[in-house]
Amino acid sequence: MDGVRAVLCSRNPHKARELERLLPGWTIEPLDRDDYPPETGATYYENAAAKAAFGRAVASGDAWVLAEDSGLEVEALGGRPGVYSARYAPEGAPAIAKLLAELAGVPEARRGARYVSELVAIAPVPDGRTLRGTGVLTGRIASEPRGSEGFGYDPVFIPDGEERTVAELGEGWKSRRSHRARAARALLEALDAVRD
Ligand code: IMP
Repeated sequence: MDGVRAVLCSRNPHKARELERLLPGWTIEPLDRDDYPPETGATYYENAAAKAAFGRAVASGDAWVLAEDSGLEVEALGGRPGVYSARYAPEGAPAIAKLLAELAGVPEARRGARYVSELVAIAPVPDGRTLRGTGVLTGRIASEPRGSEGFGYDPVFIPDGEERTVAELGEGWKSRRSHRARAARALLEALDAVRD
């Protein structure tokens, strides 16, 4: 799909750039608002849908509205931090240190984890239909951080089939294989299906 203009309901310019790489032909501007609804949903989808509905109400009617919610689920922690990932600890080194401390002594075989990304898109008015794309990346948590690319837990997340962390594998790998890349592909398929 070419020439789509969208606003992303996020104050995170990193996410807008990442999604622009994942959605060819889309131009994505972050919608920088201080009054987004709090992320109190029980699921990523609820949080993404609430952000998107808010964005649809305030953004220009001729643009698509996009919202994304994501998180890290760790098996040995019963799926935590999950939907609370963004509030687990301050982003970067503190979050990684807290995660590694919680997993101290947990053997490699029980360090399984997954990233989940949920993307919601609402069409321009008057159509206003809601589309959804979900993406999952499975892997395990390393015993120490390695690599400098990406963000969040990427220095300690080793995808299945790899020995390096996502932060070592880099942005090119992420743009093909990450949970967000998979969610973007699912969203494009949902778009194709409604256009057939
Ligand atoms: P939100 O989707 O902005 O609410 O935040 C999701 C949180 O999950 C981020 O703050 C990170 O801690 C984590 N997370 C989600 N996607 C990624 C990723 O691609 N790499 C590293 N951490 C991620």
